[in-house]
Amino acid sequence: MDPLTIDLHSHVMPGIDDGARGPVETVAMARGLADLGVKTLYLTPHQFKLDNHLSLVDVQRRTDDVWRMLARAGVTIEVRRGAEHYYGEDLLDAISGGDDLITFDLDGEPGLLVELPMRQPTIGVRRVGAALLQRGIRPVMAHPERTAYLSREYGRVDGWREAGWRFQLNLLSLVGQHGGAAQSLAEHMMEDGLYDYVGSDLHRPSDLPWLRRAHEAYRAATEGVVSS
Ligand SMILES: [Fe+2]
Repeated sequence: MDPLTIDLHSHVMPGIDDGARGPVETVAMARGLADLGVKTLYLTPHQFKLDNHLSLVDVQRRTDDVWRMLARAGVTIEVRRGAEHYYGEDLLDAISGGDDLITFDLDGEPGLLVELPMRQPTIGVRRVGAALLQRGIRPVMAHPERTAYLSREYGRVDGWREAGWRFQLNLLSLVGQHGGAAQSLAEHMMEDGLYDYVGSDLHRPSDLPWLRRAHEAYRAATEGVVSS
């Protein structure tokens, strides 16, 4: 299957985080993604960041609302529940406390999308991955290429993968939208075949032209791999 048909990471849900400010932006972004060929869109509002502490029930209800909104607007795209969890104390407490987590469905397996702090190195990533797996949840790391220290400590990626982590590429990283360092690291990780999923991490309709270029860059890079 074409990986670009599944967008695992977006801020298209309206009025809940720093993404879509209202239904008009939600519809515009979903329509733009559908035009790019996306068939399944995961709505992943921030959790444990920007003071967002959401419940699973609330996120599911809001996801269903978005699906109905898009159907009324004539946008053909499947939307699924998710959340982008910030790797911090609140998440670690929720995991160790056995709390309900806002998982998403990954081919019948629950997954948890987690973003690391971008500046300071983190500890315990392998242990957290193992704890999630023990609960039957697949840990998926959002945009590892945006983690600044990883270009100096690239070896960590292998350790995280061994511990069960899977990796999601931010497509916009491929066109420099997250800076040159993230672009280089993304290209490096792609060459090494380390990405399992792609996502737009789309926050606003004005990023859609960049995303179109990113889709082209992804296709060019993956076609290069196939033909070499
Ligand atoms: Fe995000």
